[in-house]
Amino acid sequence: MSHHANHQKIRVAVLGATGLVGQRFVALLADHPWFEIAALTASARSAGKAYGAAVDWALDGEIPVPTAGMPLLRAAARPLAEAGVRVAFSALPAAVAGPVEAGLRDAGLAVFSNASAHRMDPDVPILVPEANAAHLELARGQRARHGGFIVANSNCTTAGLVLPLAALAPFGIGSVVATSFQAISGAGRRGLAAYDIAGNVVPFIRDEEDKLERESRKILGRLSEDAVEPAPFAVYASCARVPVRDGHLLSLAVELDRTVEEEQARAALAAFRGIPQEQDLPSAPSVPLVVRTEQNRPQPLADAEAGSPARARGMAVTVGRVRRSGRILNVFALVHNTIRGAAGASVLNAELAVRYGLIEEPHP
Ligand SMILES: NC(=O)c1ccc[n+]([C@@H]2O[C@H](COP(=O)([O-])OP(=O)(O)OC[C@H]3O[C@@H](n4cnc5c(N)ncnc54)[C@H](OP(=O)(O)O)[C@@H]3O)[C@@H](O)[C@H]2O)c1
Repeated sequence: MSHHANHQKIRVAVLGATGLVGQRFVALLADHPWFEIAALTASARSAGKAYGAAVDWALDGEIPVPTAGMPLLRAAARPLAEAGVRVAFSALPAAVAGPVEAGLRDAGLAVFSNASAHRMDPDVPILVPEANAAHLELARGQRARHGGFIVANSNCTTAGLVLPLAALAPFGIGSVVATSFQAISGAGRRGLAAYDIAGNVVPFIRDEEDKLERESRKILGRLSEDAVEPAPFAVYASCARVPVRDGHLLSLAVELDRTVEEEQARAALAAFRGIPQEQDLPSAPSVPLVVRTEQNRPQPLADAEAGSPARARGMAVTVGRVRRSGRILNVFALVHNTIRGAAGASVLNAELAVRYGLIEEPHP
């Protein structure tokens, strides 16, 4: 897509803009080359207030100036249409997201969602475009039936699992044991009481282990006519919450179909590229998997914001501690849960949809 000085940007909305993922959207879209924020929504508690007055800003830096004064709308088709919005980025709680996102799709919008509500719908792709860009075809079928479409991104932890698995897939994956160490921000702005997590580890995150298992098999599955046939490998997941602000760490034990030397596995991870890199999308990290060779990496504090250029900070997954025993390959992987695991993933998905002609560009 070429951009001339007089080219208008695509008008977008952020749904659930006051939450932690919503705030990430606002920050990532503030100076986006293709998209422009035209509407923000939150719950009825905040409707009508200015964004800057309603939000409890949790990110570094100030609230982007043009957004701070925007009024919070209801997440419904009419107010979004009046604002000229054609693309909605959703950071709604799952229960709210189900009907709201379906309603916006029926109103002809392109919806890019972080919520789990529609992820397992047969005609909704869970898009991680380095791994399964072809699944975006499912959106064309939805568009024919509904006018608009929903594209989901994976659960935050799943993003950290599927990118390394996609790089190792050519060796054949038999099964994966995945153990996670997940950041507090994964539970949302008011998700956990400090008393429960400070100096503690909680070995339970509701539904998370099931999501890792079924989402990763759908993402790495094969697209048939109008659904995805899940990949045949088994996933055994255990998820824990740890007192870290941002960045989910995963320990993976991947059983491969054959013996793969450590050096060969490291090289395959480092050389991994996908369609976003090929297409040079604005939010694509130039290297999606950053391989560290130090003994003590990846770490959330050091590596959560991996990814370049600047727009792709937090979009690379960092892998390290690559070890082999027999056909089992052990690695640690780290994903920024609200960027590659949430808002940044949605923005990348929307960029791919524009590039593939699913979203029309406005004419000057
Ligand atoms: N945090 C992560 O790392 C992460 C990663 C991947 C996916 N997700 C998913 O992304 C979504 C948002 O997560 P979050 O962590 O950002 O949550 P959050 O911090 O709790 O934010 C929720 C947002 O939804 C709004 N909202 C709440 N109830 C609503 C209602 N009844 N109607 C309309 N809007 C409502 C809130 O507005 P008010 O301010 O007015 O309450 C707020 O803007 C969830 O589905 C979550 O599972 C989160």
